[in-house]
Order: sequence, then structure tokens, then C-alpha cells
Amino acid sequence: MNLKDKLINYLKEEFISSVEINDSSSDEKFLRLEELKRKTLECKKCNLYKTATNLVFSDGDYNAELVFVGEAPGEDEDLQGKPFVGRAGKLLTATIEEFGLKRQQVYICNILKHRPPENRNPEPEEVAVCSPFLLEQLTIIKPKLIVTLGNFSTRFLLDTKDGISKLRGTCKKSPYDYMVLPTYHPAAVLRNMNLLTEFREDIKKAISYLSGKV
Ligand code: URA
Repeated sequence: MNLKDKLINYLKEEFISSVEINDSSSDEKFLRLEELKRKTLECKKCNLYKTATNLVFSDGDYNAELVFVGEAPGEDEDLQGKPFVGRAGKLLTATIEEFGLKRQQVYICNILKHRPPENRNPEPEEVAVCSPFLLEQLTIIKPKLIVTLGNFSTRFLLDTKDGISKLRGTCKKSPYDYMVLPTYHPAAVLRNMNLLTEFREDIKKAISYLSGKV
């Protein structure tokens, strides 16, 4: 076994034992993402790393065609080091699974990789310094479709000031050259259950898009 394969095996055992890796482009992606995660961990361009417990880089399959992008980790995510594992995450996971995909078959991440104190909104400077990590993540993953969850990731990836209620449910090409389907943030749905029908419609549409049915 050469050095690269040994390193990949070691990293797989240490970090993502449940994910199958079986071709060289996949190995390459894995190594690039691990390197990016290391850079993110070392980043001190804003103050969030000082108050956060863990870096929240991503969860799921980096070979996925479908990527979900949220805003920033909350308390549960900060404690577990994984995005969307609290109440909002459970709604997101249940909705993805309702329409036939497993959570492990999609890739989930946020604009900010560290939790803002008291779950406050991301500051523009935090988005400015952390979003290049998201863009690099997306460059490596090359998703077929990105579902943006809520205003922050939607406005960032579509480079717009329009709000989510206007933008949700329609696929648009992002200036970064990705197809983006915005929907409500699942935390907003939990606060206002009237949004649930449209949220479910949007996730269903995203999953259908993958098989060319939209
Ligand atoms: N809200 C987000 O935007 N991201 C998470 O990971 C959790 C809650």
C-alpha cells in the first residue's frame, strides 16, 4: 500500500468510517476537503472560534449531488460538531427521508463554521471571512443542486437582497454557477407551521430535480 492509500485509510478510520470511498476522484475530494477543514479549523479571521466548542464543517456524503446550506451552527451543532442535529435538523432530516433519500446521501453544511454566541444572526464581516470556505467546499463537491435554507445562505449564494418568501421554490442559477433552490429555514418552519407545506414541496422538488423530473 502506498503512502497516499495509507493516509486515506487512516483518515477514513479516524473521521468518516461510515462513508464509502472507492475511486480515485473520490479520494482526491476527500483529501481536499480534509485539507480545507484543517484550514477552517485554524482560521482566526473572526472571533467566533473563541466562544465555539467545535468546528461544524459538514455532515453527509461529499459525493452527493444534493447539498443543503444553512446559516450557522446552533447549540446542539456546536456541542456535537455536526450541522443540523437539533430540532430544526430533525425536521430537515425527516423531510429529506420522507422523499426517499437518507440524510447520509446528501451533504449538509453552513455559511458559518462556528456558532455565533446566543445563536445571533451572522454579522456581514463573519459571512465575508467564512464564505470563501463554503465556496471552496462547493468547488470540491460540485453538486448538481444546492438547497439554501433561509435568508442568509440564499442571499449569499444568489447574491440578492430579496427575501426567502419571494425566492423559495424556484430554481435559479447562482452567480457562482450552481443551480440553487431556496427554501425556508427549518427553524422558521418550526416557529410557523404554516410554512411546512411549502417547505415539504421544495424539498420534494429538489429530490425530483436530481432524477431530471423537474
Ligand atoms: N441552523 C443552521 O442554519 N445550521 C445548523 O447547522 C443548525 C441550525
